[in-house]
Amino acid sequence: MSISFDGRVAVVTGAGSGLGRSHAKYFAANGAKVVVNDLGGSVAGTGGSSKAADEVVKEITDAGGKAVANYDSVATEEGGANIIKTAVDNFGKVDILINNAGNVRDKSFAKMDLKDFISLMDVHLMGAVYCTKAAWPMMLENRYGRIVMTSSAAGLYGTHGHTNYSSAKISLIGFMNALKQEGTSKNVLVNSVAPMALTRMTEEVMSPKLAPKMKPEYVTALIGWLCSEESTLAGEIIEAGMGYYSKVQIVEAPGYIFKGDEVPTPEQIRDHWGDISDMTGAQPYPGADDVIRAVFGKLKAS
Ligand code: NAI
Repeated sequence: MSISFDGRVAVVTGAGSGLGRSHAKYFAANGAKVVVNDLGGSVAGTGGSSKAADEVVKEITDAGGKAVANYDSVATEEGGANIIKTAVDNFGKVDILINNAGNVRDKSFAKMDLKDFISLMDVHLMGAVYCTKAAWPMMLENRYGRIVMTSSAAGLYGTHGHTNYSSAKISLIGFMNALKQEGTSKNVLVNSVAPMALTRMTEEVMSPKLAPKMKPEYVTALIGWLCSEESTLAGEIIEAGMGYYSKVQIVEAPGYIFKGDEVPTPEQIRDHWGDISDMTGAQPYPGADDVIRAVFGKLKAS
């Protein structure tokens, strides 16, 4: 059965170019009514214009799809609320939210102005928070929602010159992990993608020769699956790009227990470092409560 979004309403932030444009066009081509949000600014997130969002709306409507533009910045509470209101005013609801808008301001931490750190937290993390906050009650009430956070390998693993970006991108994983606990039983499913694609954001560090292999559409295909009615996935982190799709997971080692009531010394921790850091049998946990329960179980058994 092919995946259809007939009757669904999708909001894609930062959909005026790159990955967001590809996601918006995909949803519209497969039956969804789409809000194409974009501030229309520079890669750094400065300036603004209606052009980027308008052009994508035109591409969609020319192809027979349904879309409206929104030019708000995701980085304010009012902006996030208005983006979701655009969906409700025009199409009556919101079923799908792709938190995709993003900017970059690369510099080593020593040289970084904190304004550039805060800007990235505002756009990537708070932008996702504001939009999700506005859409969340309706999704819970409708017992239907699909939300995707756009994270990054830079956040999962770190990159030089990206302290602001890495911090914002890993924060989205924490946001997703906690939302998962609140939304999954009500069929509001939140997942994250860590994309790899050639866009205006990455064109300075990637060769144009890679363009065909690094098409945003490779990432969009995953978004389509995660947002389908059929998918029950929640709390997943998936690296995607160039035909490569791979689940990423935080796992915890079995660990080592110091028996008795004595607090171990730093020297004892040093001497048992091999046991503490042995990842043989490492496992993921569905939630923080499960880790605590597991530790109590191990203490009892030891
Ligand atoms: P892009 O620069 O083509 O697209 C980002 C869009 O977000 C732009 O159209 C921009 O105008 C919009 N935007 C920026 N600030 C905004 C704001 N405050 N409110 C509304 N819209 C805003 O770049 P790309 O690559 O398509 O990026 C999309 C997302 O994917 C970003 O979150 C980025 O960090 C993430 N990402 C991209 C990777 C890649 O390989 N291209 C790698 C990892 C993550």
